[in-house]
Amino acid sequence: MAVANGRRVKSVEDSIADTEEPEHQLKKNLSGLDLTVFGVGVIIGTGIFVLTGEVAQTTTGPAVAISFVIAGIVCGLAALCYAEFASTVPVAGSAYTFSYATFGELIAWIIGWDLVLELALGAATVSVGWSGYLNQLLSDIGIGLPEVIAGETARFNIPAMFIALLMTGVLILGIKLSSRITSIIVAIKVAIVLLVIVVGVFYVKAANYTPFVPPAAPGEGETGLTQPFIQLLSGFSPSTFGVGGIIAGAAIVFFAFIGFDIVATAAEETKDPATDLPRGIFGSLAVCTVLYVLVSLVVVGMQNYTELNAEAPLAGAFSSVGLPFFAGIISVGALAGLTSVVMILMLGQSRVLFAMSRDHLLPPSLAKVHPTYGTPYRITLITGVVVAIMAGLIPLGTLAELVNIGTLFAFVLVSIGVIVLRRTRPDLPRSFTVPLMPVIPIVAALASFYLMLNLPTDTWIRFAVWMALGVAVYYLYGRKHSRLAQGGDHDHSVATGDGTAGQGHQR
Ligand code: ALA
Repeated sequence: MAVANGRRVKSVEDSIADTEEPEHQLKKNLSGLDLTVFGVGVIIGTGIFVLTGEVAQTTTGPAVAISFVIAGIVCGLAALCYAEFASTVPVAGSAYTFSYATFGELIAWIIGWDLVLELALGAATVSVGWSGYLNQLLSDIGIGLPEVIAGETARFNIPAMFIALLMTGVLILGIKLSSRITSIIVAIKVAIVLLVIVVGVFYVKAANYTPFVPPAAPGEGETGLTQPFIQLLSGFSPSTFGVGGIIAGAAIVFFAFIGFDIVATAAEETKDPATDLPRGIFGSLAVCTVLYVLVSLVVVGMQNYTELNAEAPLAGAFSSVGLPFFAGIISVGALAGLTSVVMILMLGQSRVLFAMSRDHLLPPSLAKVHPTYGTPYRITLITGVVVAIMAGLIPLGTLAELVNIGTLFAFVLVSIGVIVLRRTRPDLPRSFTVPLMPVIPIVAALASFYLMLNLPTDTWIRFAVWMALGVAVYYLYGRKHSRLAQGGDHDHSVATGDGTAGQGHQR
């Protein structure tokens, strides 16, 4: 451990050495392609299948495609920072682990706590969306379930709980199995998205693109709490559309990109993190950005933005041009697509909690790895049950914004962390380095923060409450039990890597 200015900082060497303790060792069998597939598997989901319509209708008009471009650029900048970090510190836990190595324990805990918003809450949100699509499909064939137990507004959402628990089982059985299932689902999902683009483009009407950017208008029904925080801060009256609408839209469709950062959470399970990680992160992000921009252009071209279906805009656009058969196929694809999103978000969550309990900020017994399956089964089970309960009992429709704010906050810290780690540990080998240092990380942090400011005021309030709770938990538990506090750390001043895990480490 290093205690710098009274802060507990876990060295990169200690982080890597921890991964080599037999009882805490994860299997290392993912390649760059596996990671890209994983990325695409978690990235394409509710964002493109659901939010596109809602955002076009209420916030941006046809310019939603520009919102996707902006959100994609912000993610690309942050991805550069994630790639440098993940190739330097190839250890499970993503932003949590990075923060421990740079800012110290308190910020690391805060970021780990914050990631619950992105991962567990995200998984629960998408499970509820899955239930909505399932019921839509069942209704189409005449066997819809009662709304009280299925769909997006259910009181006791049985399909949402079912999917969360099913995916938990898959994860416990082993990551290779998960990866194989994911590949099939990803292939279906990408095929459906391509179908939308290739078939839909023939039904685009130029008239639907005018006006491409509807003029700014007073926001209907926007109150002090629902307006973007930046409008409240700057004293503007609530408004939608126009240039402000495009930015506010970007802050919401950002949800569609969440997931590329999870590729970094699988660092410890990759064969060669140095090259596989940047490949996985950029590969999945690039594929998705191109698909999103094309899909959104096609959909707002097929149907006037004012008429888009808010719940199933892609399928709705096909129905509107007299292609109900395609609408059905799209719904099935969306259903399959959302399945892998739930699974990988939970995978990311279990790995972050795994890293936190390995550091004793959570009870260490949780970090036990299954002797046969090589997966952190206890933590995975707990994650799955909590996600299932949230998905089953809470109608999470509008909580995508809370997921976004949590993720963007992690981006801000990771971007700043890259600069800090370059200063504090210039000696560490970095197989991937952010170009134009420190300009890119600074721009990435500012851009992420700017998107945060464009989220609704009530989202900020919920975020503040959750984070305050996290700080309280740290002072009541983690601060005392922390492995660094107990002196249970190592003195690994040199690399002890046995190949993969220590690779980023050997000169
Ligand atoms: N990016 C993922 C989705 O859109 C979370 O569902």
